[in-house]
Amino acid sequence: MKKTVLVLLSAAVVTGMCAMPSCKKKENATPVATMTLYDSLGGTTMVADPSNSGQMIEKGRLGIRSVVDSTIFVIAADPQLNGFFPVLLAEVTAGNLSGFGALSKSLTDFFCVATGAKNFTYAGKSMVAAHDPAQNPRMNGKAAAADFDRFVADLVVGAKKVGLSDQLIGQVGAVVATTKTQVVQK
Ligand code: HEM
Repeated sequence: MKKTVLVLLSAAVVTGMCAMPSCKKKENATPVATMTLYDSLGGTTMVADPSNSGQMIEKGRLGIRSVVDSTIFVIAADPQLNGFFPVLLAEVTAGNLSGFGALSKSLTDFFCVATGAKNFTYAGKSMVAAHDPAQNPRMNGKAAAADFDRFVADLVVGAKKVGLSDQLIGQVGAVVATTKTQVVQK
């Protein structure tokens, strides 16, 4: 008899507890924080910036900037694509790195935002305007689909040069692919 009462009491307590908001919370389970591609690239962990002594940089941004800079060099040496960048190449040849710095920052901001970074914004031209020679005099001619594909191939080379894994390269490639209809205007 005593045992039955105890069992019933325990059942009542458990049921009662589960009607409480704290138990409901457990049932509804706190949302699992989903990892963004930016997180996979290093996320918001602060590390020393190897290019700017004494400064710190988010690891994700550093990874993206390394890929961007490496890719700009691959493209600059690629005869299929470097003709699109006459202004930039003339500046660099003359020892003026301001356009390179601006493009590096702009592309880095773009990819940070596109991969899920929270602490950066992209303030450059829209993808259509940036790749329309009428709106961006630094772009020499309109890009065709084959140019876009070549750009992606150069991006893969650039990313491999800085040691990005094939898996992450694939994910970055998927982000880049979303811009194709805006970049290709020929
Ligand atoms: C694959 C995807 C691409 C992305 C995400 C991309 C992104 C960008 C961004 C963010 C800018 C800077 C815009 C600004 O600062 O306002 C830019 C500039 C530019 N892009 Fe692209 N782009 C892509 C493909 C291409 C292709 C395929 C070409 C040429 C065939 C190209 C040629 C250029 C040129 C010439 C500039 C101006 C560079 C300068 O500042 O001198 N882009 N692009």
